[in-house]
Amino acid sequence: MVQADKKLTEPKKFDLNNYLKQKKVLVEQALDSSIAIARPEKIYEAMRYSLLAGGKRLRPILCLATCELTGGTIEMAMPTACALEMIHTMSLIHDDLPSMDNDDFRRGKPTNHKVYGDDIAILAGDGLLAYAFEYVATQTQNVKAENIIKVVACLGHTVGAAGLVGGQVLDLESEGKPDITAETLSFIHTHKTGALLNASVVSGAILADAQKADINRLSNYAQNIGLAFQIIDDILDITATDEQLGKTAGKDLEAQKATYPSLWGLEKSRFKAQELVDSAIAELSTYGAKAEPLRAVAKYIVTRDR
Ligand code: FPP
Ligand code: MG
Repeated sequence: MVQADKKLTEPKKFDLNNYLKQKKVLVEQALDSSIAIARPEKIYEAMRYSLLAGGKRLRPILCLATCELTGGTIEMAMPTACALEMIHTMSLIHDDLPSMDNDDFRRGKPTNHKVYGDDIAILAGDGLLAYAFEYVATQTQNVKAENIIKVVACLGHTVGAAGLVGGQVLDLESEGKPDITAETLSFIHTHKTGALLNASVVSGAILADAQKADINRLSNYAQNIGLAFQIIDDILDITATDEQLGKTAGKDLEAQKATYPSLWGLEKSRFKAQELVDSAIAELSTYGAKAEPLRAVAKYIVTRDR
């Protein structure tokens, strides 16, 4: 009897797995209908091949969650959520090219250039990048035009030399230099990985017409989880298998890349990632139970094994 009463009065525990599963289904459906095959078929097939290859869909889910947290709806954020995944996917297609990381597997499948050739893989990336902006501009509904423009500007800033492109350049320049400083490593990661995670969170809040103070708080959350995400990525590159990751593990060591574990060791790296996640969660204190999805995503980032 006491047990039953307790069950009735205790707040229901947030089920992250279920949340991620449900949101992933919605995102997969939206991505599938975002690009139809047209002429020339090959390029649309190449774009769809990588876009629909699975993955955690963390960026779209963060965008949807933040939009809902700040008073918006899933429908308002879905075109931007899809655009974020298009941008993320194109960055991975280009990153895997022989002229960059020269990788054969991604998300458990042969990389885009292995299937379609380097020329089409470059163009598939370009096609996805351009379409991401078109998609936000033409498909977003029930959002003020000025906020759509802000999201387009945010995405442009995030993918360009001030974001992903800049981070990737420094990453390529750092290959074979395991002695780079922690400051350079942090620059690489805040640009190459953190910037798009930040844009995912910030764009969700912009679409919901959130206040500046909320956008700043959520951006702090995103920057903390962004760095934690990368530290865990570096750890998994050492500790996980190819099957777990769906790509070749151990590449950082092979390319003599400086990573957080190479600078700090595995244990300290894990500790730092946990500290960053704690700081991210602290940024959400004003939102109460509504922020459970974002808290749970932050916790998932340090506990994930793939
Ligand atoms: C994977 O990193 C790569 C990235 C996170 C982004 C790479 C960015 C570019 C190629 C620039 C793309 C261009 C535009 C216009 C956005 P990783 O090699 O450390 O991880 P991995 O092991 O998953 O390959
Ligand atoms: Mg790579």
